[in-house]
Parts: sequence; C-alpha cells; structure tokens
Amino acid sequence: MNAAIRAVVRAGVFYGKRVLGVYRGYDGLIAGETAELNAKSVKNILDMGGTVLKSARSDRFRTPEGRAEAAAQVRAQGIDGLVVIGGNGTFTGAHLLWEEHGIPVVGIPGTIDNDLFGTDLTIGYDTACNTVMECIDKIRDTANSHNRLFFVEVMGRDAGFIALHTGLATGALAVILPEQNTTLEEVIASLERGAENKKTSNIIVVAEGNKIGSTFDIADAVRARFPDADTKVTILGHLQRGGAPSCLDRVNAGQLGVAAVEALLNGKSDLMVGVVDGRITHTFFQQAIFNKAPLDLELLRVAKILSI
Ligand code: F6P
Repeated sequence: MNAAIRAVVRAGVFYGKRVLGVYRGYDGLIAGETAELNAKSVKNILDMGGTVLKSARSDRFRTPEGRAEAAAQVRAQGIDGLVVIGGNGTFTGAHLLWEEHGIPVVGIPGTIDNDLFGTDLTIGYDTACNTVMECIDKIRDTANSHNRLFFVEVMGRDAGFIALHTGLATGALAVILPEQNTTLEEVIASLERGAENKKTSNIIVVAEGNKIGSTFDIADAVRARFPDADTKVTILGHLQRGGAPSCLDRVNAGQLGVAAVEALLNGKSDLMVGVVDGRITHTFFQQAIFNKAPLDLELLRVAKILSI
C-alpha cells in the first residue's frame, strides 16, 4: 500500500495538485485526520510493508450519517477528489460517497487475496505469494527430513488464489480451495495416490475459507485414516500480510497509483483502476463489487498433473 500511496502523491504533485493524506481510512476521514503530503513526504516508503497512513474498519462510515460527516469534511478541507485503496468494503463506501454526495472517488485494488474483478493483480498479492512460497520451502525441509505430512493454512477467506498459486509453486500434493467443493475423501485419495507413488513427505496447502472445515479438523480426520503418518499443521496467518513488497507489487502499485490520479483528473469517478494484460482498465465499483474474480481452473489442472 505504501508504494501506491507514494505513487498517488507523486502523480498528484507531478500534475500540480495539492495532495492530502487521510489517516485511518474512512474513520479518519470523518474525523478530519488529514495531512498535506508532498513528493518528499513519501520518500523511503516504497519498500515498507503496511501503510504509513494506517488503516481502520469504520462502522460509522457504514451509516448515512457517517458518510454525510465524511462528505462535510471533504468539502471543508477543499478536497476535489479521493483515491481509496482497498477491496469490496472500501469500494462499497466509495460508491456511496459518490452516489449520495457527488464526491469523485477512484479506487485502487489492494488486497492480498487477489479476488477483485477487473484487474489481474491486486496490490499485495504477489508479495504474499512470495512470502508463503518461502515459508513452505522452509517447511518442506522438515517434511523431507522427517517424512512428515504438513497441512499449511494460508489466507483466503473467500478466495483460493494464494493457495492455488503457492501450492503449484511449492509442489504441494493437493490444494484445498474455497471455490472448489473438495471433499475429505478427495484429500485422502490424493494421499493414497502419493503413497502408491512412494512419496515419503507431503505438503497440502489449505485456504482458510475452504469448504471442508478448519485445517486442524482436516488434519485430525486424516490422522484418523493414516494413524502412522506424522501429521503437522502450520497456520501462516498474518505474516502473509507484512514485509517489503515484491518487485511486481511495486510496479503494479506505481502503475495503478498514477492511473488513479489520471482518472480523477480526467473527470472519472465511481470506478476502480486495474491492470489487465498489462493495460490500465476502469471498472465501475458496482461491477467490481458484484462480480468475483474467477480462479484459473487451468492452473488447478496443471497443479494436479504436477503433483503425481
Ligand atoms: O484481506 C483479506 C484477508 O487477507 C483474508 O484472506 C483474511 O481472512 C483476512 O484478510 C484477515 O484479516 P483480519 O485479520 O484483518 O480480519
């Protein structure tokens, strides 16, 4: 997110605009927590994880009164347009701010889940995948040395992008995804196939939002069927959301930040900027919110072929 903030600030300054940073998301907007930012204020943040502007979930902004307060702040501070970074929740609020108060808003897709419609990549996703890949590579060392079976849980409350991509990248035996109705029997079948092929260590990547159940429950059920297998669970959790952004994320954030500012300056609003096949796209918030980014089933097929 810092790379995107930097890009928005620098693009705004480049086009001769005054740029304010809003702290703590919509909550901070309601409270008028802003600070003027210039090209120098965003130096040395390109390689930092998180967001220097901080983030917050705002219950107040979910109400019409909260949004009216936010709109009043926008006007009081002389703000002509907003750039918001986030996912569906952020875009829902942005759409309402435009619809109810006519405040121009452009969104930048930012979530590690990569599940937003209208862009190939959301900010943070590539970094999260690289982090997960490094972690699983390290777990693999123990799995190999001790002939163990690991269930590694990755983030993805509703989306299996991280699980599928990292499962493929780390040679997982199976991936369990929210988008697929994978059954326990299928997981067990993949382990039996692995045993037939004389696999002595295995890694199964589980997306947290999978349909079978908690990763611990899945591991317990597998233990009951394979009592001799040395079965472990690792939950990667929030370490997936931190750290220095990857090169691809920095490039993506730079492109999207500039595109967001240019969209606002061209009179656009109520839309998210994205990158599809290397080109900047505009997707109306409502389209981005109501459609789901499809998982690449071809990659799932490839992952299955490679996991024999
Ligand atoms: O951004 C979405 C996500 O990464 C989910 O995959 C995950 O469940 C969630 O964030 C966790 O976020 P928090 O701990 O802030 O609720």
